[in-house]
Amino acid sequence: MKNWKTRTKLVHSGTKRSQFGELSEALFLTQGFAYDTAEQAESRFINNSPDEYIYGRYGNPTVRMFEERMIAIEGAEDAFATATGMAAVSGALFCMLKQGDHLISSKALFGSCMFVVDNILRRWGIEVTLVEGTDLNQWRDAMQPNTKVCFLESISNPTLEVCDIAGVAKIAHEGGAKLVVDNVFATPLFQQTLKLGADVVIYSATKHIDGQGRCLGGIVLGTEEYIQDVFIPFNKHTGPAMSPFNAWVMLKGLETISLRCEAQAENAEKIVNALKGHKNITRILYPTDVSHPQYELAISQMTKGGTVVSFELSGGKKAAFSFLNALEIITISNNLGDAKSLATHPVTTTHKNMAAEAREAAGITDGFVRLSVGIEDPEDLIVDLLEALEKV
Ligand SMILES: Cc1ncc(COP(=O)(O)O)c(C=O)c1O
Repeated sequence: MKNWKTRTKLVHSGTKRSQFGELSEALFLTQGFAYDTAEQAESRFINNSPDEYIYGRYGNPTVRMFEERMIAIEGAEDAFATATGMAAVSGALFCMLKQGDHLISSKALFGSCMFVVDNILRRWGIEVTLVEGTDLNQWRDAMQPNTKVCFLESISNPTLEVCDIAGVAKIAHEGGAKLVVDNVFATPLFQQTLKLGADVVIYSATKHIDGQGRCLGGIVLGTEEYIQDVFIPFNKHTGPAMSPFNAWVMLKGLETISLRCEAQAENAEKIVNALKGHKNITRILYPTDVSHPQYELAISQMTKGGTVVSFELSGGKKAAFSFLNALEIITISNNLGDAKSLATHPVTTTHKNMAAEAREAAGITDGFVRLSVGIEDPEDLIVDLLEALEKV
């Protein structure tokens, strides 16, 4: 199985058939598990053996199939699936930190990730330093003897910043800290984050892994030691386990993720080329486009630029709203990674809670639009975008 290519792993890895030989992965929609004897129950609580389950909050065979498929794709030692992406982000950080520890985070984060880092962790007595994630010197300068975790999103939401993952990992490791990366925007296909040196990688499976807007989910991947001895003891008691039904949907999503994401990334490239230089666009961002500030880094650590394109319209919020309202195929939604193209105005939705000053400094201006590119025909998408731009 080790020599399988990614597309084969996406379809087959982790599958375990029951005695009925079902073709599609079995959905074990159960909370608990029955024991033949009291001795068997006792031994399950002692042994923690693979394929021996106790309770849905600790593990489930369908959820394990999803975890094992992700382990195979990511090249991780182990994984634990969670109810949402935010349960994965918060659980991965909370389980590693205690009062008096220090965390360094990139400033370019999704609104809820920023709330966890900048509000909850601080409230719990964890020191936090926010840095420009693209500047290795800032990571280096921020390191302290009590730094336990460095955290970043690369590609970031919604400004599509690209951080030097190998560079930050080296700085973190030299100071005895771990690097945790939220890899949602890069997808499991376009960036091999653990191979670049990260210790823990996180996904909101809600996005490209489901990819068809149905279920929430998340997953945390890392070493067996981290998952078994650090993540699980914290998370099995705090409780954000993935539902078996959602895991089953995610398994089905993984079967087609490469077809969808490759098509989405190709569409994104075509859209960037069609919109570049448009009179109503002041700035367009796509990591593997030569105009991107971290273009060289992006092409060195990613195989494709992802499925999201961001741009700024001249004319601020009024222009952004009239553009969004004029779209016919592309739907207004704060979601992303879907087969359907979705457009968002981050200032009034996903990044609404960020202080206006910090938001402006991050480049999330009133005219800023995030476009999650879907699998529709690129020509139709381009016509939709150009026609909406004319109405700005
Ligand atoms: C970068 C990033 N991380 C985490 C999340 C949270 O995922 P979920 O909505 O599944 O909790 C999101 C959601 O948009 C995201 O964009």
